[in-house]
Amino acid sequence: MKNIDTLLHVKGESQFTDDLIVPEGTLHAAVFSSPIAYGKITRLNLETAKQIDGVYDILTAEDIPGDNQIGVIVPDEPLLATSVVHYIGQPIAVVIAKNADRARTAIKAIAIEFEQRSAIFDAREAYAVGQLIGSPRTLALGNLEAAWQNCDVIVAGTVESGGQEHIYLETQSVLAYPTENAGLKVISSTQSPNDVQRMIAGVLSLPMHKIEVDVLRLGGGFGGKESQATAWAVMTAFAAFKLKKSIKLVLRRDEDMRMTGKRNPYSSDFKMGLTHDGKILAYDVTFYQNAGAMADLSPAILGRCLFHATNSYFIPYMKATGYVCRTNLPPNTAFRGFGSPQAVFVIESAIFKAAEQMGVAPSFIQKKNLLQTGDEFSYGMKVENSQAARCWEMAEQRHAIEKRYQDIQNFNQSHPLQKKGMALVPICFGISFESTFMNQASALVHVYTDGSVSVSTGAIEMGQGVNMKIRQVVANIFSIPLNRVNVESSNTKRIANMSPTSASLAADLNGNATKLACLKLLERLKTYAAKKLKIDSMAELQLKDEVLYLKGKPTDLTWQGLIGEMYLNRVSLSAHAHYSIPNLYFDDIKQKGRPFAYHVFGTAIVEATVDCLRGTYRIDTVKVVHDFGKSLNPLVDKGQVEGAVVQGIGWMTIEELMYADNGWLLTDTLANYTVPDIRFAPDIQVDFLENSENPLGLFNSKAVGEPPFLYGIGAYFAILQAMKAFRPTLAGQFSAPFTSEKVLLSLYETQ
Ligand code: MTE
Ligand code: MOS
Repeated sequence: MKNIDTLLHVKGESQFTDDLIVPEGTLHAAVFSSPIAYGKITRLNLETAKQIDGVYDILTAEDIPGDNQIGVIVPDEPLLATSVVHYIGQPIAVVIAKNADRARTAIKAIAIEFEQRSAIFDAREAYAVGQLIGSPRTLALGNLEAAWQNCDVIVAGTVESGGQEHIYLETQSVLAYPTENAGLKVISSTQSPNDVQRMIAGVLSLPMHKIEVDVLRLGGGFGGKESQATAWAVMTAFAAFKLKKSIKLVLRRDEDMRMTGKRNPYSSDFKMGLTHDGKILAYDVTFYQNAGAMADLSPAILGRCLFHATNSYFIPYMKATGYVCRTNLPPNTAFRGFGSPQAVFVIESAIFKAAEQMGVAPSFIQKKNLLQTGDEFSYGMKVENSQAARCWEMAEQRHAIEKRYQDIQNFNQSHPLQKKGMALVPICFGISFESTFMNQASALVHVYTDGSVSVSTGAIEMGQGVNMKIRQVVANIFSIPLNRVNVESSNTKRIANMSPTSASLAADLNGNATKLACLKLLERLKTYAAKKLKIDSMAELQLKDEVLYLKGKPTDLTWQGLIGEMYLNRVSLSAHAHYSIPNLYFDDIKQKGRPFAYHVFGTAIVEATVDCLRGTYRIDTVKVVHDFGKSLNPLVDKGQVEGAVVQGIGWMTIEELMYADNGWLLTDTLANYTVPDIRFAPDIQVDFLENSENPLGLFNSKAVGEPPFLYGIGAYFAILQAMKAFRPTLAGQFSAPFTSEKVLLSLYETQ
């Protein structure tokens, strides 16, 4: 099961947008963006900049032939600012020059003046002045108001979680060039070629068929290129269209960090009610989501946040309300987990606080409330096949949890300044796009006369191994070796109307479409072979290791031979298929339905050691029992869990975005925005939940991309437990990232 991509990456041979051989005469673009957070442009003078040697043109909103609009959910996002700017980094003009350096020099020569307005950067402040995008949204179950009186313990509190920069290794990049008869070819590092195509068509007032978007692979996306690759691709296409030249745009790391949106910061209020024996009866939560200046994907992210408000627990009486708050930060966007991590951090904080008050371990409450088959979610769906308890119990047993608690206590007793803490995190993540219509995909499979196969789908390979899984599907159905199968770039001319590669769904959707296309071809092959063998039923035919079997016995017909003959007999060797996830629906008025095909479960045990003199810490181990269904590719899937865990820990601990008072991002390099590296990463052990089948997934597998991010949340509570071992009166505070600075200050703050 060797992944071709891995091999190419290691040899440095895999190609990213910036590696492609460009057409002769390619020019380079750079983007002039707003230096202020909110204000009206009173003067914009491009003349001096245009005079600079090597500068070809500078384009602004006025040059746009079509609709100056790229909002994916709400049409509130101009491609280029017109009179008002809403955040630092908002694109105003595109400079085209003979090289990128020259374009950036020209940017410095652009003269601009503003009438400044007072900016808001905080979600609650925005809420207070009514700066909301769309209306508030509420999901509820049972009569919450009546439930409080039956609770023995009630806790309430506030939770803060910060933004997170995607740090895809490949920054936003595009190459665009004109093709004949007013067409364009655009190579973009995007998770959503269809959005790029559609937005270019709108901005340039062209039919979509004029625009070809092609994506070979991404050097990581993590959600940051779901909607936010679009702006750069459209600007570059616009320049190519206007200048009739090939144009390339690659953001510098600091530009990328300043101009693109991040994970939405959240500020939330919770109230939780429990019985004496730890059963959670009631939960009320309000989320203030910091959307940044434009809607982008934030309303959808809020949706997934609300859907995941109760994580892996059944709470009979609950209400979750969310506000999408407009601030003057760059538009925040999709990031692995898509709002669910923010929700899970809140409920885990509430449980921690309840446990504190009741004098029990949080795990006591967690375990007692795990979802069981038949339990209802606030969104109306019932848990169809809960693996929550099985994952929890397997983790407890495999890792001798009681003994670990004891060991940690012993360690803490004998170490006055070093303290250890442990936290468990059960997870539950719904699989499908909440927008039902997006749950569709198609595949185009060609078999060539030599028996080799070419597959096109809308799946974007961005390191998560989706191409490998698609190859496995083809190899499996035709029973041919993997090296006979090539997965092509994702191209809007071969696959129309593709959904973005996101929501962890790419393998499920595109793999199933591929499977259907292959099954069509297999049927044609068997029909041909049955005729040739003069038998009535195809049911007795089977392909195995490139040989055709009849009633379990090998014939002298082979895969390659049959394909060659089918061609000579004018049988089509190409097939297209469309797949849509069955039985999904959602009633927007009632806020009830069956939005997900299935759920992914798991449990992680996270241990940390805190140096209580310095406030520094180490995340020691993360032990995961994860529900992969029947894993399609254990190596790829394990890699997904490991990466997600580390990314989740980073969000909770060391990744801190800092801004100056005027909104300028101070942490705009990898020197001052720290992400986990291999030395920071804990020892991660991943166990596969046994005997989990998933008929709704691809070959019984489950989607894997995002859910394990949630395990990282355990790092926060492991640190907190260690701190409480040092200072038992310390009351849990819930404000991520839990930087060493924060740990130190709260260890010694006077209460
Ligand atoms: N893994 C790698 N290496 N690089 C990525 O950019 N993105 C994550 C996850 N794993 C990502 C990744 C996110 S946000 C999603 S939604 C899924 O992969 C998307 O791919 P899938 O649908 O094939 O799981
Ligand atoms: Mo992933 S956040 O759905 O791209």
